[in-house]
Amino acid sequence: MAAFPIPRTALAAGPRTPLLRSRSLCPTLPALPRALPRARAFHQTTPHRHNHTDRRPVLAEFSLKDRVIVVSGGARGVGLAQAEALLEAGATVHALDRLPTPDSGFSRAAAAAAAASANTGPGRRPRLSYHRVDVRDQAALGRIVGGIAADEGRIDGLIAAAGINQETPALEYTAEDADKMLGINVTGVLMTAQAVAREMIARRQKGSLVLIGSMSATVANRGLICPAYNASKAAVVQLARSLAAEWGVHGIRVNTISPGYIVTAMTESLFEAVPERRTAWPDANMLGRLSYPEEYRGAAVFLLSDASSFMTGADLRIDGGHCAW
Ligand SMILES: NC(=O)c1ccc[n+]([C@@H]2O[C@H](COP(=O)([O-])OP(=O)(O)OC[C@H]3O[C@@H](n4cnc5c(N)ncnc54)[C@H](O)[C@@H]3O)[C@@H](O)[C@H]2O)c1
Repeated sequence: MAAFPIPRTALAAGPRTPLLRSRSLCPTLPALPRALPRARAFHQTTPHRHNHTDRRPVLAEFSLKDRVIVVSGGARGVGLAQAEALLEAGATVHALDRLPTPDSGFSRAAAAAAAASANTGPGRRPRLSYHRVDVRDQAALGRIVGGIAADEGRIDGLIAAAGINQETPALEYTAEDADKMLGINVTGVLMTAQAVAREMIARRQKGSLVLIGSMSATVANRGLICPAYNASKAAVVQLARSLAAEWGVHGIRVNTISPGYIVTAMTESLFEAVPERRTAWPDANMLGRLSYPEEYRGAAVFLLSDASSFMTGADLRIDGGHCAW
C-alpha cells in the first residue's frame, strides 16, 4: 500500500481516547479492553466475549449444516472471522487468498472445527481448507472453485471479502494504481462471484453470495483520502444488485455487507500513518468506538443461511451509525 502524508488538519478534532483493539484473529493487535472508555449509552455495546464452543443453536434456519461455502480474503481479518462463524454454524469452508500462508488464527479455527465436528451427527463435517489464488486470475479461480464443487459435490455460498485499500489523493493517483484497486476490489469480486455462480447454475443449485462492501460506498470518509477505494466499494454494492437481478431466476441471492471501521491489518496501517485517527474515527459514529471482525459473524451466517431466504439485492450496513449521522 502506498501511503501518502495526509494533512492532519483534515482530521476531525476529537477527545483523546485509547484505541479499542481487536483480539483473537489479529495476533498483531492486543486484547480487547474490559470496558468502553466513555459510556455512550445505557447499555454496553462492546462485543461480548463468547465462548464459541459453548454455543447452542438459536433458530434452525440459521444452520449451515451440510453447506459448502467459499470465502475469499479468508486468510485473515474479516474474511477469517466470518469463515470461523460459518464453521460454527455447521458449514464446510474453503478459504481463498493470495497470501502464501494464512494467519495463525486460521489453524486455530480449523482445529476447533475438527474438534467440534467429532460430536456432529451424520452428514458432512465442518472443515476449513485453504487455497492460494489471486482473485484477479479468472482461470485459476474457475479451476479452484470448480475443483471444490466437484470434490464436495455441491457449492452453496460465497463471501467475497478479498480487498485492498490505498490512501492516495486523487491528484496523485496513477492509472496503474487505480487499475489495481478496481482490479482487485471490483473485477476480482465479480470473477469470484462468477466462478461460484457458474458451479451453482451448472448443478441447478440455489445459493447465497455475500459481497463485502463498505460504508465508504455511501460516504466519502472524512480525513481518509482514498477515492479509488470508495469508488470500488460503491461499485461492489451496485454489482451485487445487478448480479441479484440477473441470478435471482436461478435461486441465487446476492447481498452486500457494508462495514464501518474495523480494527484489522488494513486499518492498522492507516493508524500508523496518522495516529490521531485512533481517536477521530471512533468519534465519527454513534457508538463512539471502532468495530472488530467478530462483529460481522452474525451477519455472515444470516445472509448465507435460510434465515434470509427472501433477501436479495440488499445492502446490510453495519457501521455504528456512521452514515446515519
Ligand atoms: N477494515 C475496515 O475498516 C474495513 C471497513 C469496511 C470494509 N472493509 C472490507 O472488508 C474486507 C476485508 O478487509 P480486512 O479489513 O479484513 O482487511 P485485511 O487486509 O486484513 O484482509 C483482506 C484479505 O484480502 C486478501 N487479498 C487482497 N488482495 C487479494 C487478491 N488480489 N487476491 C486474493 N486475496 C486478496 C488479503 O491477502 C487479506 O487476507 C475488504 O474487502 C475491505 O475492503 C474493511
